[in-house]
Amino acid sequence: MKTTQLAFAVAALCLSAAAGAQTVMKISYSTSITSHYGVGSTAFCDEVEKGTQGRYKCQQFPNAALGGEREMIEAVQLGTQDLANVSTGALGNFVPEVKIVDIPFLFRDYAHARKVMDGEFGQDLLKKMTAKGIVGLAWTENGFRHMTNSKRAINQASDANGLKMRTMENKVHMEGYKTFGILPTPMAWPEVFTALQQGTVDGQENPIPVILSAKLSQVQKHLSLTNHVYSPAVLIVAPNIWNKLNDADKKVFSEAAKKGAAAQRKKVNDDEANGIAELKKDGMQVVEQVNGESFRKAVAPAYAQYAKEFGADKIAAIQNVK
Ligand code: PAF
Repeated sequence: MKTTQLAFAVAALCLSAAAGAQTVMKISYSTSITSHYGVGSTAFCDEVEKGTQGRYKCQQFPNAALGGEREMIEAVQLGTQDLANVSTGALGNFVPEVKIVDIPFLFRDYAHARKVMDGEFGQDLLKKMTAKGIVGLAWTENGFRHMTNSKRAINQASDANGLKMRTMENKVHMEGYKTFGILPTPMAWPEVFTALQQGTVDGQENPIPVILSAKLSQVQKHLSLTNHVYSPAVLIVAPNIWNKLNDADKKVFSEAAKKGAAAQRKKVNDDEANGIAELKKDGMQVVEQVNGESFRKAVAPAYAQYAKEFGADKIAAIQNVK
């Protein structure tokens, strides 16, 4: 082969390799592929694949297949995993500014919470992640947390007194739950079903989509719609992926994350609307009208501690968003 022919052959080879180059990114989350996290992640992945003409695609790892949320965040930080869709419950251990959103009874309802997370406060919080080696793309959603247990109906805060409850490894949650008389037992999510089954703990607290997808009705008799904490979630990407994207691809990822977030929130809405009937059918006894005031009254002393840690003005600024 002549030198010019050889040069052409090498160039053609390089071009076709570049055209076909594909990055397969690992994304993980804690619940099933049909759950809110699965629906949000799938919508994000589909949009990324479409928008980059297949140059980027996802391999999904649902059901905490790559570890609990703490491990997922650590792996994204290290770049050994590309993406994760995680709640803020564990993220505050990496990005302390995030902890404020886990304060009990901080948000009134979904409209309030979504407005704050999509507004200036939430967008600033996403930016804070960069300094910790995590790129936050968009706020997805886990949902308002409710209590389940195997012992008794919880109608008011005093009914929770003395229950041993699995909590996230989150000090803000734990400080608040202690004021309800709960004995908080922090535990990673992948261990929770077995702990409930074996009676190591009496109960746990999570949003309806989690209770449904993890089939907690098989191991918990009572559900109380306490709405005691709004649990935001976020799509995060490893800096080593993000930093090699050109501006157009960055835009594709960001827009895809917004679509993923919308799909995830819609699934939360649907589960909130239909899931309670399903859980009742599965045998759960549900307290729908919980005395919320009794919980808010009980948690008031913890707010003094939260104010010291986060600033009363910052807490009020979130509460005052209309
Ligand atoms: O309770 C938890 O650990 C979280 O809510 C979960 C289930 C991992 C979803 O983010």
